[in-house]
Amino acid sequence: KKDWILMATARSPTNIAVVKYWGKRDEALILPINDSISVTLDPSHLCTTTTVAVSPNFDRDRMWLNGKEISLSGGRYQRCLREIRSRAGDVEDEKRGICIGKEDWGKLHVHIASYNNFPTAAGLASSAAGFACLVYSLAKLMNVREEQGKLSAIARQGSGSACRSLFGGFVKWEMGKVLKCTKDSAGSDSIAVQLADEQHWNDLVIIIAVVSSRQKETSSTTGMRESVETSPLLHYRSTEVVPKRILQMEEAIRTRDFPSFARLTCADSNQFHAVCLDTSPPIFYMNNTSHRQVPHSFIVTNWFFRIISFMEKWNRFEGTPQVAYTFDAGPNAVLIAPNRKVASLLLQRLLFYFPPSTDTELKSFVLGDQSIVKDAG
Ligand code: PMV
Repeated sequence: KKDWILMATARSPTNIAVVKYWGKRDEALILPINDSISVTLDPSHLCTTTTVAVSPNFDRDRMWLNGKEISLSGGRYQRCLREIRSRAGDVEDEKRGICIGKEDWGKLHVHIASYNNFPTAAGLASSAAGFACLVYSLAKLMNVREEQGKLSAIARQGSGSACRSLFGGFVKWEMGKVLKCTKDSAGSDSIAVQLADEQHWNDLVIIIAVVSSRQKETSSTTGMRESVETSPLLHYRSTEVVPKRILQMEEAIRTRDFPSFARLTCADSNQFHAVCLDTSPPIFYMNNTSHRQVPHSFIVTNWFFRIISFMEKWNRFEGTPQVAYTFDAGPNAVLIAPNRKVASLLLQRLLFYFPPSTDTELKSFVLGDQSIVKDAG
């Protein structure tokens, strides 16, 4: 029979790094120079939904992102497809008389339709949710019986941070021990592991200030390459700072110690942007300006410095950290409060000091929780 189609759908949230990944030791396999830790968000706000389909009628692999066809010829897509196909199992649907042997998957083509419910490539880790969802839905379709950690090593080859989106809650991406990879090892120990599930610290509230949906000027791939080649600070960070910080962050998460968690998160975000400035030529991800109309003048200020100084002043005034902030390779601010009470105060203050209507660049605030990759049927 040639008129059948088999489909699988998955939904995957984005994740926010609190100890950042920046720099690769192997570009093709996407092996990082340090461990990283992230929080996975609730899929209801920032997520990718992907449906994958296979049919003998399809004559080539094709993909649509937000309704527009995109090329699958890039190495990252090809690697994920190849890795999943090589692990595919037998699939049988007795009712419809469909029987696919694992050796058939190499001859069958897939169609992939993916939707992001948030801006693509604007520092909201769209590639993390995207590749995690792609790998998870393909694995489901092709009956891949691998544990989640193994799948994370495949998603990693699409986009490094994607490996962390395969788990909910708090996730560590272990850089892996093998520094120089042979063909056999192929970075198989560079995987994501769950540190704590989404129930462990479910009081935390994450607020994302969506500033701009513009695409970032320097892609993370180019930025990382330039930082690895030119930044002495990055070398110091990956060998001296992050190994200790990872242990401290794991402890803060384990004991739900918000002041320590906040201090480490803010320090890591600031060091990541210091590494970007230490790169030659320097990379400015915090270069977004906001425009405020005040009587008789028009003030142009830097959004990042305003929000960082607002959060720092609040923490200093209280004597111990009440709120945390972190910025990735884009202008959107990720703000974290220890509970709903502080979150609502934070939101009130943000709306007062940074009202979306007058800060022309600020679009909205999005609330996120933590959750896990979900099967959507
Ligand atoms: O996975 P990529 O190539 O999108 O890189 C992500 C890098 C940061 O978002 C800046 C940090 C991180 O760990 O997510």
